[in-house]
Amino acid sequence: MNEPIAIVTGSSSGFGLLTTLELARSGFHVIATMRNPDKSGGLLSEAKKENIEDKIYIHQLDVTSQDSINQLAKLTETRGRIDVLVNNAGYAAAGFVEELPMEEYRKQFETNVFGVMAVTKAILPYMRQQRHGKIINLSSISGVVAFPGMSPYVASKHALEGWSECLRLEMKPFGVDVILVEPGSYRTSIWSSGKQLTRSQPDSPYYRLMEGMENYILSGEEKFGDPREVAQKIAVIAKMQKPALRFPIGKGVKTAILIKNLIPWSRWESILLNKLPKR
Ligand SMILES: NC(=O)c1ccc[n+]([C@@H]2O[C@H](COP(=O)([O-])OP(=O)(O)OC[C@H]3O[C@@H](n4cnc5c(N)ncnc54)[C@H](OP(=O)(O)O)[C@@H]3O)[C@@H](O)[C@H]2O)c1
Repeated sequence: MNEPIAIVTGSSSGFGLLTTLELARSGFHVIATMRNPDKSGGLLSEAKKENIEDKIYIHQLDVTSQDSINQLAKLTETRGRIDVLVNNAGYAAAGFVEELPMEEYRKQFETNVFGVMAVTKAILPYMRQQRHGKIINLSSISGVVAFPGMSPYVASKHALEGWSECLRLEMKPFGVDVILVEPGSYRTSIWSSGKQLTRSQPDSPYYRLMEGMENYILSGEEKFGDPREVAQKIAVIAKMQKPALRFPIGKGVKTAILIKNLIPWSRWESILLNKLPKR
């Protein structure tokens, strides 16, 4: 097959769905993976409107299941080439450290970190042998900047950042690029069905803080970005000759990262803490 092939994880909604469409529009055959293929209706009806449905192949993949990942590796082998892997599947676990069961951290890492590692390890041998390919990992501003009340998510994205840096250095000599996309806040289901909040109870010392943070997020929701912007950026990166390691994207994201890196921690800390409701 001469046309390039991309795999996208978590294609049932949000960035994954939109990235699948953008890649198909720009000439890729896309293996659109999702843990429940019954959710492919939205993606396929959008694709039909544009006559690109024959460029999209739906495949079942739960990134936390090694059996499911092995099936993806078999499929990749039959295709004979693989150009781009977009590790997009993920969710956001929130809550306060003292109140979060360890199980929430384990589950968060199982999807956002170990899931990415396992899928990538399954595809890597093909990319290494063909001596080209791009692995595009959906990190977040939370991979660079920490926020209270979001430690499972923030820790998972920080881990993804470090792991991706290592992999970038290991794979560069083989012609394989590893890329981190770091979006700010965008309108997807991650704020509703994709969020697992361990709720503080009214008698909790963290209750007011949790309420304040929820309100802060809700009040800013209309300012969240259009997720098509991120999907379009990923499709551009997928065709770049020499992509950078990091692509921060979204309102205020580059500025926040720059300021955090420039000013002393004590100053940064007081800026963030001043924005939070007082206990
Ligand atoms: N939206 C933002 O503001 C934002 C900002 C920064 C980074 N991100 C990152 O962008 C990525 C996509 O999130 P989104 O915003 O597009 O949210 P979303 O609309 O909730 O999409 C998340 C996708 O991941 C899938 N998923 C979750 N667990 C999975 C698993 N174990 N195996 C396979 N698929 C799984 C979901 O599938 P189901 O439909 O089956 O649940 C869904 O398709 C995530 O990695 C997220 O951390 C989002």
